[in-house]
Formats: sequence, C-alpha cells, structure tokens
Amino acid sequence: MTVAVTAGRLTGLHEIADVGRDPRRGGYSRHVWEPADLELRAWFAERAARLGLTVESDRNGNLWAWWGGPGHDAVVVGSHLDSVPGGGEFDGPLGVVSALDAIALLQASGFAPSRPCAVVVFAEEEGSRFGVACLGSRLMTGAIAADRVRALVDADGVTLAEAAEAHGTPARHLGRDDETLARIGVFIELHVEQGRGLIDLGSPLAVASSILAHGRWRIDVTGEGNHAGTTAMSDRRDPMVAAARGILAVRDAAARRDDRATIGRLHAVPGGTNVIPSRVTVWLDARSADDGDARDLVAEITVHVQDAAIAEGCTATVTEESWSGEVRFDPALRDRLAASLGGIPALATGAGHDAGTLAGHVPTAMLFVRNPSGISHSPDEHATLDDCSAGVAALRDALRGLL
Ligand code: GLV
Ligand code: MN
Ligand code: MN
Repeated sequence: MTVAVTAGRLTGLHEIADVGRDPRRGGYSRHVWEPADLELRAWFAERAARLGLTVESDRNGNLWAWWGGPGHDAVVVGSHLDSVPGGGEFDGPLGVVSALDAIALLQASGFAPSRPCAVVVFAEEEGSRFGVACLGSRLMTGAIAADRVRALVDADGVTLAEAAEAHGTPARHLGRDDETLARIGVFIELHVEQGRGLIDLGSPLAVASSILAHGRWRIDVTGEGNHAGTTAMSDRRDPMVAAARGILAVRDAAARRDDRATIGRLHAVPGGTNVIPSRVTVWLDARSADDGDARDLVAEITVHVQDAAIAEGCTATVTEESWSGEVRFDPALRDRLAASLGGIPALATGAGHDAGTLAGHVPTAMLFVRNPSGISHSPDEHATLDDCSAGVAALRDALRGLL
C-alpha cells in the first residue's frame, strides 16, 4: 500500500481542505472550539475510527486515537488542527494526517505493534483564540495554572471556561493531567518546516535539534482620548504615535541583537478614524537563541517602549502572557531517528510546538518536511506532495522501529 492521495494532496488534507477557509484573510482560520475546529475534531474522530482506533478526549480537550487501546509507555505521534488567523494548510494538520497515514500503512503491511500507540491532536496550539500558545500541552504538563486558563477571554469576551464547557470539556477538570502524561513513552511530532532550512540543506526531511526561547508580551500604551479635528498636534498625548515609535524600537533592538521580535497584533481604544485613541495595545512576540538572550531582548524593548511613551506624554506597561524556554530535543532519540531514516540532517527552528512543551517531560523528537518557499503562518505555506509522502514514509519507519 502507498500513501493515500486525492487530487494532488494527501487524502486527509484533501478531506479537510474546505474546513475553516477564511475568505476575508485568505487561508484558514481554525480556532479552538469554534465551528471549524469542531468540524475538524469530528473529522479526526471519524477518520481514526475508520482505522479501528479508539478515540477519547482528555481533561484538557486534547484528542487521542489509540491503536490497540490506551496504555503506558506509548509511542505517541501527532500535532494540532487549529491555525493562526489566515494560516496555511500544513501547519498542524500535516502532522495529524501523516500520523494517521503512517498507522494505515503499518496496518496494511500486517504490522502488529508490541507497545501502545496513539495519535494526539493538541488543543489551541497557536493560541489564536485565547492568546496562549500550546495551551493543551501546557495544561497537561502543568506548565500553566488551570485557574489562569479558565479565566482567559477571547475577542468576544467568552472565557475559556465557557468555551470548554460548551463543547464537552468540563472547566473544573482542566489542568495538570499526570495520568495522561504518564502514558506517553515517546512523542514524535511531524511538522512542515517553517523556514528555509531544508531548502538550503537540499533535503526533503530533517529531525529537529532545538527551538528558540520565545514568549508573548502585551504592551498597553495609555494616553488621552480626544477629537481628531480640534486637538492641536502639540496638545496631544497620542498612544498610537507612542506605540509606533515603540514598534520601530522593537524592530531595531531585535535586528541589532540578531534576535527576532514581531508586533503582529494591535488594538486601539475606542478605534475611530476621527478619534485620538485613549489606549493602544500591541502584542510582542520575541525569540532568541537562549533564555537569557530572550529576557535581555525583552528588557531592552521594555525600556525603549517606555521611553517612547514618555516622549509622547503617555505611559506604557509590559505584561508577560506566555514564556517558552529554549528547547534542546533528546539527542539520543534525535540521532537514532536521523540514522534510521538514512542520516537525514538535524535542524534548529524558531517556531514553537507542543513537542517543545513535552520535551521537558518525555523523550521527544520532531520531523520537519521541506517547505519550498520557507513561508509559514500565511496562506502561501506549502509542501509538495512528494515531500509530504516522504514524511509519511519516515513516520511509518520511525513507528516501526519504536513499536
Ligand atoms: C507557532 O507556530 C509559533 O511558533 O508561534
Ligand atoms: Mn504555527
Ligand atoms: Mn504548528
């Protein structure tokens, strides 16, 4: 049996190709417990059931499909189905589809696993609805307090607790889940590469070596709301101008340090064309090679943003919303996987993953599939069918070696 293909795509990706399309932004907007995500969850359960897998949801809304039933010391493969706003087709779903396809190939060859095996779909990996990335894996490992998570609010004022309850995940059960975590013997996440590393290496596949330290910070700049037509330029305390100065300083600080810093979201209050805002909030995503560098970068940015605010008669506060320390993947597993797949290269990444959260708890590895443009978190994200098929075959071989 070969990898199932429909209309030039892996069949699983073809089946979900119309779910959560975003006509306004382009690409896909699939956010946790919203209709597209619910449809994807139902699709996953149905597709896993077709393979004879037993599907269950854990305390934190992560989905598990067990081959041969749940058990300990399991080999777990998977990724996520949610997306950034206006995201691509591959970030997340490729790992889920490839995991199911790899099991289908093993089943078709008559292979019988000698240890438990599961495909996992982690909830709210992108943090696009409630702001904190890798929420399902953070909750499971206890990396974030359940009380804080229950109180997270989406853009419409819905709390995470309300959203979870509405879709069958009791909010009081959210939180550290030692029982589920203890079942995982090893975790492998296959993912589309999100940069140009594999193009440069001339290889369709790589194993991950490390993930940059990264986090998210909310920057609130407060000034004085007023009339756009009657307020002289010299009389203004305009937080938008202060934020603009701050954003330039963010870019300059990161560039000077050879780090990465992004302002990808901005909210003005009250948000009228003819109104000087009273408050502007921007969200900072900052990433560096190690924890110390990332902390130094954010400390420098904080000074610049506060100076920019003062220069405009405003004030600025910087609040950490999430933090992920540098990850170095298990070297033994990484090398074993790379060797068993014909000596594929190892690659560092600047992108965050649930695998990064799990790496501090269980032996964890990642497989990257080449992205011919390097573009990701965009509708232009791509991976060729040949490279995706190579990824499925690699995951199958990795599973065969571990099971
Ligand atoms: C997720 O893809 C991230 O790196 O933020
Ligand atoms: Mn992503
Ligand atoms: Mn992802």
